[in-house]
Amino acid sequence: MNVKTALSALLLALVATPTLAQSGEVNVYSYREPGLIQPLLDKFTAETGIKTNVLFAGDGLLERVAAEGELSPVDLVLTVDVGNLVGAKEQGLTQPITTPALTERLAPEFRDADGAWAALSLRARVFYVSKDRVAETALGYEDIAKPEWKGRLCTRPGDHVYNIGLIANRIALWGLDKTREWLTAVRDNMAYAPSGNDRAGVKAILEGSCDLSISNTYYMGLMLNNEAEPEQKQWAASARIIYPDADGEGTQVNAAGAFIARYAPHPENANALIAFLLSDEAQRLYANGNYEYPAVAGVEPAELVLSWGKLNPSRVSLTEVAAHRAEAAALVDELRFNEGAQN
Ligand SMILES: [Fe+2]
Repeated sequence: MNVKTALSALLLALVATPTLAQSGEVNVYSYREPGLIQPLLDKFTAETGIKTNVLFAGDGLLERVAAEGELSPVDLVLTVDVGNLVGAKEQGLTQPITTPALTERLAPEFRDADGAWAALSLRARVFYVSKDRVAETALGYEDIAKPEWKGRLCTRPGDHVYNIGLIANRIALWGLDKTREWLTAVRDNMAYAPSGNDRAGVKAILEGSCDLSISNTYYMGLMLNNEAEPEQKQWAASARIIYPDADGEGTQVNAAGAFIARYAPHPENANALIAFLLSDEAQRLYANGNYEYPAVAGVEPAELVLSWGKLNPSRVSLTEVAAHRAEAAALVDELRFNEGAQN
């Protein structure tokens, strides 16, 4: 054992607590909140006998995995947005998922081709339209670029990951030039300079300052059930959801997902956890906990989610969407999208 290896071993002994070093366990870093994850992990432990240790945090977990390097105790990381999943792979933080459940349960567009990550739930970026001021029952992404939407659209800033995902999906589908034309027209139809979050757009619908907000589906469920801020129920009640291109190319989706850390001390257990999270029951629980969609085809979302309409997800692979994120961000800058209408 050379000095460096000896030092690493010593550090490992100091850093990793005895429980983390035992087998029969799996160590999880989660960006997703305890209320969503803990019941699932408890079920996993009940079924497999594998204990789970979880570190929850709103940010900094990927940086932490990178900084910990080969001394990291983490086996599995749960995160949202395909940009984070692809980014983890690019930074060399992942190892291939080997459970057969990955390819048996997930369509190719919802997992990495090399098994570096798996989607666990899907969120659709849709149109919330005013129940009073919008008559349309079906719309496509191209429709909101038309003149009849002048001064009627709203969304959060274009450089937010949710909108970058949508624009990157358009680039993958249409190419850069058509997407530039579309985004320019969408910008010029904005009711006000893109600002706030997905819920603020729906609030603007109630207030009459916007007729169509581009927002994620699950906020409808979160607002309708918000007991802490009941005024959000009114925001949600003023709008209904249209799934863009439901009958055509499909609606753009992003994912929440997981990867197994490159230096996972318990990769078999991490694979067992991925297989569990892709089971019918876990998929239902995981998706329903945040009004999202199961990533596994054929598993139904919650009744409330179904009541908004049927999701036909865009078949553009999430990997391909992620590959166009930088172009999407450059387009948002180039068009000064965040300043709102310019023509
Ligand atoms: Fe969100």
